[in-house]
Amino acid sequence: MKMKQLLSLLTDAAGFPSFAAAGKKGNGVLVAYFTWSPAQNTKQMAEQIAAATGGDLFRIEPEEAYPADYRKTVQIVKDEMQGNIRPKLKSTMTQEELDRYDTVFVGFPVWCYDAPMVVYSFLEPLDLSGKTVVPFATSGGGEMNDRNLRAKIPATFKDSLCIAGYSPGESSSRKITEWLSALGFSL
Ligand SMILES: Cc1cc2nc3c(=O)[nH]c(=O)nc-3n(C[C@H](O)[C@H](O)[C@H](O)COP(=O)(O)O)c2cc1C
Repeated sequence: MKMKQLLSLLTDAAGFPSFAAAGKKGNGVLVAYFTWSPAQNTKQMAEQIAAATGGDLFRIEPEEAYPADYRKTVQIVKDEMQGNIRPKLKSTMTQEELDRYDTVFVGFPVWCYDAPMVVYSFLEPLDLSGKTVVPFATSGGGEMNDRNLRAKIPATFKDSLCIAGYSPGESSSRKITEWLSALGFSL
């Protein structure tokens, strides 16, 4: 018997994950999201996706929180977009941590027709090549424009889902479930 097979048998017998699975977290699904409004729409959508897929949640947060005042936040967001600014994050993931996942759901509220700049702050320093990235969003009524995201992040992208006027409940749950099934997740 080869050494690798022997080790594999021993680790399996001891209840440890086999070498093939070592290092992978959960089922290899990460649900990273940013949310801002008091309703926390995107957070709720992220939690539903994590519950349905068995994925791990990671909240993207700027080091300096956006003001609670809507108008002030809109102005800051416009300035960030015009200046192509990447706000500093409160915390992020290391490449090693990210590499425990094969599929990365990335969620955000649509801000000025794009993803908030903090989402780019999170994704750009990481190497997502070889991973599947699935964007999702909530919006006030507009569609998701993830062209920028797809152009800037080298990865294999799957069809995104944007729920306009998100509210928790049956209608949103059904949209999420149908979308995940179409992506091939067995729920
Ligand atoms: C700065 C800012 C910009 C926004 N821009 C858009 C937009 O371009 N299109 C749209 O439909 N909704 C827009 N919205 C509304 C949010 O996308 C929507 O309320 C979202 O569900 C909020 O999600 P959250 O609770 O996770 O923050 C904007 C909201 C803010 C605060």
